[in-house]
Amino acid sequence: MSATEQIEVRRLGPADLQEHLDGLARVLADCVAGGASVSYMDPFSHEDARRAFEGFVAEAERGHRLVLAAFDDGELVGTVQGILALPPNQPHRGEIAKFLVRRSARGRGVARRLMEHAEDEARAEGKMLLVLEAVTGGDAARLYDRMGWTTVGVIPGYALYPDGRPCDTTVFWKSL
Ligand SMILES: CC(C)(COP(=O)(O)OP(=O)(O)OC[C@H]1O[C@@H](n2cnc3c(N)ncnc32)[C@H](O)[C@@H]1OP(=O)(O)O)[C@@H](O)C(=O)NCCC(=O)NCCS
Repeated sequence: MSATEQIEVRRLGPADLQEHLDGLARVLADCVAGGASVSYMDPFSHEDARRAFEGFVAEAERGHRLVLAAFDDGELVGTVQGILALPPNQPHRGEIAKFLVRRSARGRGVARRLMEHAEDEARAEGKMLLVLEAVTGGDAARLYDRMGWTTVGVIPGYALYPDGRPCDTTVFWKSL
């Protein structure tokens, strides 16, 4: 079995979400420690990451979000979310967020597998259009290009890295 084939990707249901809260938080804290611009600033502890995921899990339990995770030999190494609850005039649209693979598991196709699965889940939820934002020129942006996402444009200085430096953001969309 290849390194990528041994990765299991699945949507986490309510019981699964509670069971894997710490694993999800570990991935988020590792990505922020690695300098990823994903909403949070340094210092960002495991407890901070756990609190953030408790909020996402509450939304998932209400059906407003879907949360997927990738497991390598049972260990949670990556995650991605789909935001399903949008204004009443956009029921066909979803947003992708918190696309995270821990540093030790990168470069093996985990993110691609997560995104393929997230797109399938979004389609199954009746979504026909997905939108997301990524750091301009970053690892994620390259992957979105390769996976058929269309670039809308770049917003200069849209967000900050965890250390406070500004970063440009590229907005993408994809039709499902
Ligand atoms: C962006 C991110 C999710 C990508 O995760 P990943 O699992 O490393 O992604 P993949 O393995 O699918 O692709 C990464 C690279 O590995 C390469 N790759 C994939 N499978 C491979 C394999 N089996 N062998 C060798 N290389 C491989 C890909 O071609 C890609 O190359 P590139 O960086 O030159 O374009 C990860 O870097 C991350 O978590 N970053 C921090 C958080 C973040 O910025 N998230 C995005 C918010 S929008």
